Amino acid sequence: MNRRRFLRLGASVLGAGALAAVAVPSAALLLAEGRPGRLLDSDLPLPDAFQVPLPVPKTLAPVRTDAGADYYEITQQVARLEILPGVTTEAWTYGGTFPGPTIAARSGRAVVVKHRNELPVPSVVHLHGGHTPADSDGYPTDLLMPVGSSSDHAAHAMPGVHAMNGMPGTEHAKGRTVTGERTLTYPGLQRAATLWYHDHRMGFTGPGVWRGLAGFHLLHDEEEASLPLPRGDRDLPLMIADRSFAGDGSFHYPSADATLAEPGVTDGYANGVLGDVILVNGAPWPRVDVDRAHYRLRLLNASNARLYRLELDPQPSDGDALVQIGSDGGLLAAPVAHDAIEIAPAERFDVVVDFSRYAPGTQVRLMNRFGSGRTEEVMRFDVSSRAVTDDARVPDTLSTIAGLDPKAVTVTRDFAFRRSRGDGWTINGDLYEPGRDLAAPALGATELWRFTSDLHHPVHLHLDQFQVHSRNGKEPGPYDAGWKDTVDLRPAEAVEVLVRFSDYAGTYMIHCHNLEHEDMAMMADFTIS
Ligand code: C2O
Ligand code: CU
Repeated sequence: MNRRRFLRLGASVLGAGALAAVAVPSAALLLAEGRPGRLLDSDLPLPDAFQVPLPVPKTLAPVRTDAGADYYEITQQVARLEILPGVTTEAWTYGGTFPGPTIAARSGRAVVVKHRNELPVPSVVHLHGGHTPADSDGYPTDLLMPVGSSSDHAAHAMPGVHAMNGMPGTEHAKGRTVTGERTLTYPGLQRAATLWYHDHRMGFTGPGVWRGLAGFHLLHDEEEASLPLPRGDRDLPLMIADRSFAGDGSFHYPSADATLAEPGVTDGYANGVLGDVILVNGAPWPRVDVDRAHYRLRLLNASNARLYRLELDPQPSDGDALVQIGSDGGLLAAPVAHDAIEIAPAERFDVVVDFSRYAPGTQVRLMNRFGSGRTEEVMRFDVSSRAVTDDARVPDTLSTIAGLDPKAVTVTRDFAFRRSRGDGWTINGDLYEPGRDLAAPALGATELWRFTSDLHHPVHLHLDQFQVHSRNGKEPGPYDAGWKDTVDLRPAEAVEVLVRFSDYAGTYMIHCHNLEHEDMAMMADFTIS
């Protein structure tokens, strides 16, 4: 990289083009409930709802196993998919599908994944919710360069690379870049939970995930297996994600720089990109036949910015349709019944629905009460009339959750999530800079972290799950139960969480999971030692 380019691009994570592209959305748009972002319309006719069957991502088979670990291989590749009926969409995929293949892991057994990058761009894989050593966690400048981009020169010519290489400072600023393949190790020393993996490349997580780089990673354990919960094909992972499509069928995303040399989005989308098509497991407004039986639905919001209020329509006669059994970090202590669930980007809610509460033939729509028009519908369950057996039920006690003790807190830290004046999104007033720590927790210490917001910010911590201690000085909210790795902050809120970082020293991330906010620098390092 020549010196002029270094000066132009190296001064900040955000290039000059990206800075100019951040415009202030109107106050009404910013504050509208459930609308943190701006709708991007598709440029082709949208299909009718409930025409496409619900796909279930296939479970990846290990290439080998040994006493302590299962070994997998995933090739990141461009694939031509039929997402809208009759339309071809070129996607960036894990293994040729969107969502990527599901990894089914066993608590206490390591999962080792060799990723090979055949995409036209660098990538970074993060296991969201994973209790992962730092060198496998997907630090945003630990680039995996595409196969064949072997020389340094070629690497720097890749879209987006110069935006972080050439930054002054630490080893982290440069990142642990490798070319072609990288092997990531997930020790699995954590309880059963619905995790997911997705791209985490600095400055380009939004366009990467939007184009398809996301998949489930389901962790199972003995405790979960001992419960009479729905299983097999009555245990459905549901990845909910809004997307928009260009006239040629490609994913439509408002990148400030279409070549992806610079991060950022065009005018008006800095507060988040909302799609006008709701996909579940990669299919638009799908439908699925269900028996009159209990189903476990693992709800994941894999949208860049959209917040959903999910509700079944019709409701069963006595309400409480969605019985929550788990959160981001696995089983709750006891079930919590909801009429509706509000789910922010990256959050997971594990719920059981008893479809025997509906008459045979009922068509039950999953609605998004925060949406409007086409985005008000998500998918449909068609209740069959056939006679079935169903041994599943939701026990009154699910698990034991040891509460983190507020009296054990040794350090309290404040993190203010705010829009900066004209140049992106900040934590405590700073744009993200790799290698600069915002906190240095001691391994094993219990800390209280307080998050405050100006607007909507789903706040995510890497490495360990936390417990919500208070929301706006009161009890945690109805969607805060259990172990969490992402907590939704609404405009002008204050949320306190208790967290204890365990097992692995090293540098990890705290960031907003609105992916446009994340890419526009609402992220920070913390280093545990
Ligand atoms: Cu799901 Cu740091 O991300
Ligand atoms: Cu945010």
